[in-house]
Amino acid sequence: MSRITLERVNELLKREEERYHEEHPRSKALFKEAQKNFVAGVPMSWMRIWAGGFPIFVEKAEGVYITDVDGHRYLDLCLGDTGGLCGHANPAIVSAIHKQMQTRGTTTLLPTEDILWVGRELERRFKLPYWQIVMSASDANRFALKAAREYTGRRLTLAMNATYHGSVDETLCFQIGDTLINYPGMMGPLFEDPSVITRMIEFNDLEALEKALATREIACLITEPVMTNVGIILPEPGYLEAMRELTRKYGTCLLIDETHSMCAGPRGFCGDMDLVPDIFVAGKFIAGGYPGAILGFNEEMASWLAQRVPWHTFFGFGGTLSGNAAAVAGMRAALEHVLTEENFARMSSLAAEMEAGIARLIEKYNLDWYVTRIGCRVEFRFSPKPPRSGGEALFSDAPYNEVDIISEGLTGPLEALVHLYCANRGVLLTPIHEMALVGPTATADDVQLYVSILEEMLQELTA
Ligand SMILES: Cc1ncc(COP(=O)(O)O)c(C=O)c1O
Repeated sequence: MSRITLERVNELLKREEERYHEEHPRSKALFKEAQKNFVAGVPMSWMRIWAGGFPIFVEKAEGVYITDVDGHRYLDLCLGDTGGLCGHANPAIVSAIHKQMQTRGTTTLLPTEDILWVGRELERRFKLPYWQIVMSASDANRFALKAAREYTGRRLTLAMNATYHGSVDETLCFQIGDTLINYPGMMGPLFEDPSVITRMIEFNDLEALEKALATREIACLITEPVMTNVGIILPEPGYLEAMRELTRKYGTCLLIDETHSMCAGPRGFCGDMDLVPDIFVAGKFIAGGYPGAILGFNEEMASWLAQRVPWHTFFGFGGTLSGNAAAVAGMRAALEHVLTEENFARMSSLAAEMEAGIARLIEKYNLDWYVTRIGCRVEFRFSPKPPRSGGEALFSDAPYNEVDIISEGLTGPLEALVHLYCANRGVLLTPIHEMALVGPTATADDVQLYVSILEEMLQELTA
């Protein structure tokens, strides 16, 4: 077994932290200055979860590279936690949004002709006929759950334990034993006791799924087809198909959220399966990095929603900027020129090389870790085998990365070390996850760079 110890992890972490502070004086100073006007020094709280105590400030971002204000250049494997999956400043997207803004403005509360192409393309890829465009995947999920409640006349949402679907009250909880609790740090939950609005089950547990649905109290089952937020957890054979069958049997809407799993390919994880949900959600990169998300409905739900429009818009659904023309232009460019078959094939093949490289390291250094991949997303974790469910994933880390997620947050010491070790040598990973996204313009050399940095770290860790 591996010779990694918590003591060695902490020793290297301290050294890497010092190096990070020394080599990023300008980012550090800007962060200090920003604390005067921004809560916790950042415009959005997630920007504080980077290891090292402060985030780098960006000077330039192009393709899969970022340059910071201290002059360091990074290979960006975070890609805005999927928001930048199309690559930064992608020329096709920049040009489409620029043209839209320059000639027709950003937002007029009127549609542009682009929606026709986008609607047809969304139906072709994701099989649902009717669409709405909103500003974020969180919004899309929130609105979808409201729609499902009203459509079914039921109150409860069913979600997978340890899932994440955005800032959506119904899914910001997790289950320990039989008790549902709100996420630690959740802001002003609607209900102190989330079981008023939510039920949770473990992913891949069909028996629990049927038991929950059979109460006929569930308006909507919201799920990723492959879990991504506590590490990649693949569905077992037949699980998604059974999910579709059971939700139909018990009159529950099935919402598939492919916001992250779209990294599987141009039609997402489910696109090539014989599986059509009632509601489909994707966001983050769908408008090429410009804020935008999509919300698809089946025929019945769409005609039920449409009946409300002549006499009333759907209040509590969307907002003034939803469906704005710049987002639609970005969406068309992203779907037409970037999120293509060819690009996904290349990205996935490079990601497979990365996965193989990390697998070789795991074997060479005799680590009790595993590496896994969906499409262009590669992830390794500090436990010997992939978990079957979110509940299993939450508590499966090796002792040298143990962290009390209730009181200490989500990042364990080895996790922090991996992130800082990579950042100090020119590679950015998504905070919290050991997750790497291979973007459209990445190269085999980029993959090699990341794998070789991991190897350097492992040599030191196991020395
Ligand atoms: C599966 C999934 N759905 C929805 C969201 C929410 O996306 P956003 O934060 O862009 O609203 C996330 C965010 O990480 C996610 O992972």
